[in-house]
Amino acid sequence: MLSKVYSAAIQGIEALPVTIETFAERGCGFMIVGLPDTAVKESHQRIISALKHSGAEMPRKNVVVNLAPADVKKEGAGFDLPMAIGMLAADERIPVEGLEEYMFIGELSLDGSVLPIPGALPIAIRARQMGIKRLIVPIDNVTEAAVVNNVAVYGVRTLREVISIIMGDKEAPKATEIDTRALFAASSSIFDYDFSEVKGQESVKRAFEVACAGGHNLLMVGPPGAGKSMLAKRLPTILPPLSMGEALETTKIHSVAGKLSRGSMLLTVRPFRTPHHTVSPVALVGGGMSPMPGEISLAHNGVLFLDEFPEFPRSVLEVLRQPIEDREITVSRAKYTVNYPASFMLVASMNPCPCGYYGHPKRRCTCLPGQVSKYMNKISGPLMDRIDIQVEIQPVEFDELASQEQGESSAEIRNRVIAARNVQSLRYKDENGIHCNAQMNSRLIHRYAWPDEAGLKRLKERMERLSMSARAFDRILRTARTIADLDYSSRLPAEECVDAPILSTHLAEAIGYRALDRDNYGQTY
Ligand SMILES: Nc1ncnc2c1ncn2[C@@H]1O[C@H](COP(=O)(O)OP(=O)(O)O)[C@@H](O)[C@H]1O
Ligand SMILES: [Mg+2]
Repeated sequence: MLSKVYSAAIQGIEALPVTIETFAERGCGFMIVGLPDTAVKESHQRIISALKHSGAEMPRKNVVVNLAPADVKKEGAGFDLPMAIGMLAADERIPVEGLEEYMFIGELSLDGSVLPIPGALPIAIRARQMGIKRLIVPIDNVTEAAVVNNVAVYGVRTLREVISIIMGDKEAPKATEIDTRALFAASSSIFDYDFSEVKGQESVKRAFEVACAGGHNLLMVGPPGAGKSMLAKRLPTILPPLSMGEALETTKIHSVAGKLSRGSMLLTVRPFRTPHHTVSPVALVGGGMSPMPGEISLAHNGVLFLDEFPEFPRSVLEVLRQPIEDREITVSRAKYTVNYPASFMLVASMNPCPCGYYGHPKRRCTCLPGQVSKYMNKISGPLMDRIDIQVEIQPVEFDELASQEQGESSAEIRNRVIAARNVQSLRYKDENGIHCNAQMNSRLIHRYAWPDEAGLKRLKERMERLSMSARAFDRILRTARTIADLDYSSRLPAEECVDAPILSTHLAEAIGYRALDRDNYGQTY
């Protein structure tokens, strides 16, 4: 008898439909065709044992399994469950009719339990697109898959339970229902941290606000204990809330990477990823034997925080340049090419010098002349070019730390950020793929962020006085545009802010965010 069962394979962060055809006839033998990898080929052994422990049995026949289409690579052990079901149907132990309403995914252990798999969310999305009525997933993946509506999602513990669902038994597990929208609305502004916990540091907080408002990458330079990590961690709390679409896309990436913990559903707050400087290039950007998204994709729609920036090997930092530009990463290996989204805000922090105290108000820097600039030079110019905002940070005084005064809350800052972002949405509505000021190239800067003659002249003078390199020019204008947007949107409706001029006060503040561009940085003691 011939049976047909639906399943799905992960490619990048999408799931592609896979049909499993099983043919059983008189004879003895077993064969899988259709580009299976080793884990899929080994399913045979797992299925034999799992069937035995589920009160069923492997057909005593010649069995051929075809995974179609042949050009989609089938990886991992997730096809165990659909293959087992296909064999039972081909052996006429369960009905073949009606199976087309189901999709199955799950790994089998030898005792017949169903083990979790990566990518349940994209698989559920694909099932809905295909008009599948019932999706059977491992119990550990059920909450993540049940986010998708219009498909009944069943979480199962054992192969036996799957059979009972198909046979329509009364005790069979029921579909899991989750009101995703309500859940999303309720939890999208809940954070464990708040900016009000950071004492003082007003100018650095302001730099963070500007960075978030325009989507600018940011670098903090300051001694140990200055509060760099503390500030960075609070950055997601002032970014605009995730939209439902963004949340789904980010969750898909975490789902494919197998990073969702059991019982987690949609990620409702922006991710904050902090890879250590010993991270490998593959772990950072993605790839590997069977492709996996890396840290930059796990940070998609959120923040990638690189602490101790110069400690990262140059080879690791260099691979960041292309995704920062393209907002996605293409990973090519001999056997595959996949794309992963990687639109993140880069926040980096570093000590100003090897000893950490260059420029400190109280402590002496013990580095030799030349060591400071050498330390800075560990970060290549082209990478620095992609960081619009650079701020120096000093530890707050004891009095300030001990003060009871509460700073401004994240929610207040976030409201201003949202207002400035609304202006940008209007301004760039006809510019394909451009959403925020940080994404402006030279052409767009000329169009949307050009100061008047007087402003231009003053900017040139100031840059010369501070001996700034010409490279800083574009970055200053981009940041100035954001500062202007924040300024106008605090008092005018968004439509009136779109073309409002950049003033010299905006330019002056933007110049202040180029701490490291002065040619003499690191040369004075
Ligand atoms: N401005 C501040 N307000 C409140 N606490 C602070 C502040 N700056 C530093 N701290 C305290 O000092 C600790 C060390 O700061 P941290 O962020 O780890 O510094 P860095 O990353 O710059 O070395 C923080 O966890 C926090 O408890
Ligand atoms: Mg730190």
